[in-house]
Amino acid sequence: MEKTLIVANWKENFTTAEAKRWVEGLNKELGIRNCGKTEIVVCSPSVLLPVLHSSFIIHNSFFRLGAQDVSKFEEGQYTGEVSAKMLKDFVDYVIVGHSERREHFGETDEDVKLKVEQCLKHGLTPIVCVSKIEQALADKAIFAYEPLSAVGTGEPDTPENAQKFAQEIKAKVGQDVRVLYGGSVNAENAKSFVSQLDISGVLVGQASLDPKGFARLCSSGFQSATGAN
Ligand code: PGA
Repeated sequence: MEKTLIVANWKENFTTAEAKRWVEGLNKELGIRNCGKTEIVVCSPSVLLPVLHSSFIIHNSFFRLGAQDVSKFEEGQYTGEVSAKMLKDFVDYVIVGHSERREHFGETDEDVKLKVEQCLKHGLTPIVCVSKIEQALADKAIFAYEPLSAVGTGEPDTPENAQKFAQEIKAKVGQDVRVLYGGSVNAENAKSFVSQLDISGVLVGQASLDPKGFARLCSSGFQSATGAN
């Protein structure tokens, strides 16, 4: 059965020491609590992936790692870029086309398409962020519906709107795609989104930075309507 996906997007936060403290904090909070119905994906800055990779592999089998972006190029003279082939050693997932990348780095739908292709070529699962239905272009991806008015604002969309949008994505791309909701998700409201029929999980920014609150979100025992087990 499909597990509920909880994706933490750390954005541009945490040094190595802070990331280690976060892992310690989360381990302490979660303890041996069963998160069996959920898969938790931590998307950290790329530079932190090696250290997180060691900690999670040893301590938490229900954790996976993700990157927040990937190069649209295979390899070569692209200073500063990190390729899918490089990320593959550490991650299973890659966030692609986040609204902050579209806004601050001029990322286009064409860029997103190339990045998705790189992910698929190297066996990584892209999590494509979309704020409008026209951006749902790929078909072998997980989608995250992230309305611009909800990202980083503390003002989430309604679960009903999220459900409606998820239905539209599925109607356009295919009934088997998984759709997440993201935008001001926290431990209190996460359940209202994942209990919607077509929502398979959540993408969590701000509320993933505090290990205590994030542990509460992860262990709240919810499961998506499609992912009973
Ligand atoms: P937020 O961010 O939870 O802080 O709104 C979500 C995201 O940007 O993916």
